[in-house]
Amino acid sequence: MALTQSGSTRDHWSSRSAFLLAAIGSAVGLGNLWRFPAEAGSNGGGAFVLFYILCVVLIGLPVLLAETLIGRHGQASAPESVRRVASASRASSHWSVLASMGVFAAFLILSFYCVVGGWVLYYVGVFAVDLVNSGVAGGAFAGQSADHIESLFPALIGSAGWTVGLDALFLGITLYFVARGVSGGIEVVANWMMPAFFVLLLAITVYGMFGGGFGQAIDYLFTFEPEKLTGPVMLAAVSQAFFSLSLGVAGMITYGSYVGRNVNLAGTSAMIAGADTLVGLLAGLCVFPIVFSAGLPEGAGPGLMFVTLPHAFQDMPFGSVVGLLFFIMVFFAALTSSVGLLEVPTAWLIDRFRIVRRFSAMIVAFGAMVLGALAALSFNALSGWHPLGFIPLFEGQGFFDVLDGLTAKLFMPLGAILTALFVGWVADRKLVDIENGIGGALHLTWLFLVRFVCPLALVGILVMGLFPDLFG
Ligand code: PHE
Repeated sequence: MALTQSGSTRDHWSSRSAFLLAAIGSAVGLGNLWRFPAEAGSNGGGAFVLFYILCVVLIGLPVLLAETLIGRHGQASAPESVRRVASASRASSHWSVLASMGVFAAFLILSFYCVVGGWVLYYVGVFAVDLVNSGVAGGAFAGQSADHIESLFPALIGSAGWTVGLDALFLGITLYFVARGVSGGIEVVANWMMPAFFVLLLAITVYGMFGGGFGQAIDYLFTFEPEKLTGPVMLAAVSQAFFSLSLGVAGMITYGSYVGRNVNLAGTSAMIAGADTLVGLLAGLCVFPIVFSAGLPEGAGPGLMFVTLPHAFQDMPFGSVVGLLFFIMVFFAALTSSVGLLEVPTAWLIDRFRIVRRFSAMIVAFGAMVLGALAALSFNALSGWHPLGFIPLFEGQGFFDVLDGLTAKLFMPLGAILTALFVGWVADRKLVDIENGIGGALHLTWLFLVRFVCPLALVGILVMGLFPDLFG
C-alpha cells in the first residue's frame, strides 16, 4: 500500500493483513511497553489493570470500530472523512472538529513520544557497547553492580544534552520515513519486526516466570481491590486504553481511509485490540517480577521499564544479545507508532494547504522538536517549571507530564466522546450498517455501547477523574 492520494483513485492497503499489521504497528508501541507498566505501578496495580481491560472491551473496541468506519466511508484525511460522513447523513460539517482536535493532539503526543524514543535509542547504544565489553555468552553488564545499572536512567534523563539530542535523532528518523512516504521501508520492517517482537516478549516473560517475583507480580496486577478504584485511577485506565489503541487522535480514521470494501472492520478491530492488550499485559508481566524480586519501587513512573529490564538481562544467559535485540525491537515498535503520529498532521497539512509532503512533514517535525525539547528539559534544566501547576490534575508536573496528561486525559477521551456521539446518533443508520460488517445481536450490542455506554461512561469518568474532591 502507499499512503498517498493520487487524483480520484485512492491507494489502499495491499491486503487485509497489511492493514492489520500496519494498524497493530501503530497501536503497539511505547504505550504498551513503557506507559502501561508505569501507569499500572503509579495507580496501584490490579484495580487499574482490570478496569483498563474493561475499558478496552466496552469503550475502546467500539470506538475503534467507529473510527475505522468513518475513515473507510470518507476515503480522505480525517477531518474530510468526517465531513463526508456528515454530508451523507445531512448533518453539520462542524462535526469535523472531532478530527481536527485529534490532529492537534497527535502533534502534541508526537512531541513527547520522541523524547521517550530517544531513551530507547540510548539503551540500544548501551547494550551494543555492553555486547562488546561483556561478550556474547554471559549475561549483560558483566561485573557491574545493580546500583550501577539502576543509575544509568537517572543519569540519562538528568542530562539536557543527551535527552534533547536523542529526541532530535529519533524525530529525525521518524521524519525520514514520513517525508519519503511510509509504504516502502516501514511497512516491510513492521511486517517482520512485529511478529518477531511478539515472540521475544513472550520468551522474556516465560524466562521471568522462573526468576522469582512472578507470583507476586500476578497478584499485584490481577487482584481487584475495589477501594483502589478511585476517579483518578479510572481516568488513568481509560486514558491508557485510548493511548495504547491510538484512539481519539484521528489516527485510526486515517488508517481506516486506506481500507478497501472487502475488509470486515469489526473482526479486524477485535484483532487489533486483542493483540495490543496482550502486548501491554505481557510487558507488565516482564517488568513487575523484576520490580518485586529486586526490591524496586513500583511507582517509579517513566523510568520503570528502563530500570527493570536491564536487570533481567544481567542474569540471563546471552543477556547482552537478548537485551540488544529487545531494545532494537522496542525501537521499531516505537517507530511504527511515531510514524503514524507524524503522518496524521502531515496528511492534514497536505490536504488543507496543498503543501508538498516533504515540507509538510518538516513543518510538523520542527514544531514537535520545539515542544519536545521543552519536554526533554523538564527532567533536567527546567525541572522546576510546572506550566499548569495551578490546575490540581497537573500540580507539581513538568512539561513532559503535562503534555502526556493533557492529551491522554483530556483530548483522547473528548475525541472519543464526540466520535461515539457522531457515529451513534448523527451518522446515517444505513451507512453505518453497511460499513461495520456485523449483524444481529452483535450489531445491536455495538450500537448500544456506542450510543449509550461510551459517551455516558466517558463523561462520568472524566468528571470523577478531574474533580475527585466532588466525590468525597
Ligand atoms: N498507540 C501508540 C502506542 O501505544 C501511541 C499512539 C497514540 C500512536 C496515538 C498513534 C496515535 O505506543
